[in-house]
Amino acid sequence: MRRPRIFVNFAITVDGKVTTVALTPSRFTSSYDKRRLLEIRSLGDALLVGRNTVQTDNMSMGLPDEDLRIARLQRGQSEYPLRVLISNSGNLSTDLNVFNHHFSPIVIYSTTSMPEAVKAALQTKATLHLADGDRLRLSVVLSDLYETYRVRTLVCEGGPSLAKALAEIDAIDELFLTVAPLLFGGASAPGILGNPGTFLPSSRIYRLSSMNVESTECYLHYVADRR
Ligand SMILES: NC(=O)c1ccc[n+]([C@@H]2O[C@H](COP(=O)([O-])OP(=O)(O)OC[C@H]3O[C@@H](n4cnc5c(N)ncnc54)[C@H](OP(=O)(O)O)[C@@H]3O)[C@@H](O)[C@H]2O)c1
Repeated sequence: MRRPRIFVNFAITVDGKVTTVALTPSRFTSSYDKRRLLEIRSLGDALLVGRNTVQTDNMSMGLPDEDLRIARLQRGQSEYPLRVLISNSGNLSTDLNVFNHHFSPIVIYSTTSMPEAVKAALQTKATLHLADGDRLRLSVVLSDLYETYRVRTLVCEGGPSLAKALAEIDAIDELFLTVAPLLFGGASAPGILGNPGTFLPSSRIYRLSSMNVESTECYLHYVADRR
């Protein structure tokens, strides 16, 4: 099955955590990093996030910086990336910020477990793809994004559960990390692939493509090495 090229972007602390134990929003980096996040986001035909991230961070999934939108148009992309949400349960509230901004279409991949009332409400806000059963096959979702929506580059901003699912099927092609000068600690504070748990089926190997230091942070870019 063909799928888009997938970029994953995370901010991490020096001890490798992406959020506090309370799972509060991940706003612990500089304004430089926030611009970098938008620059990476602007590369994608679509932006993908998991249910908890769109809820806790209450993001609109937009592209506020006009220069980045102009550059997209010049590259032949849509002005804003397609916004893609994923959730097995389908428990998404239409009160979320993402549903109250109308700059680009929203596509939701979920299952027939989605409660009927939620389905009725979301249908007015987004295109729903509901698979039978209670679990999505991520590879099928990625293939559908490729075939139906012509997504060739997909940027994923987490969260960790979704990144782990991508890593399990070896679908993280490029990894962007911002290392912030903080220690969060906490055995139950997740890293980029979530809480300590099962190992991946096999190690995923990356090549360091670039490393920059700007003020207090380090910016790393890795590319999958599948030789
Ligand atoms: N530092 C950073 O850069 C960064 C980036 C992103 C997020 N975060 C933080 O991470 C925390 C959230 O972590 P999380 O791991 O819970 O977030 P998440 O991956 O966004 O959300 C997990 C939920 O998304 C859905 N999901 C994920 N993978 C799926 C798959 N393969 N198929 C179907 N549904 C899937 C499921 O929803 P259902 O339960 O509805 O089935 C799952 O429970 C937040 O505190 C957030 O602030 C930090």
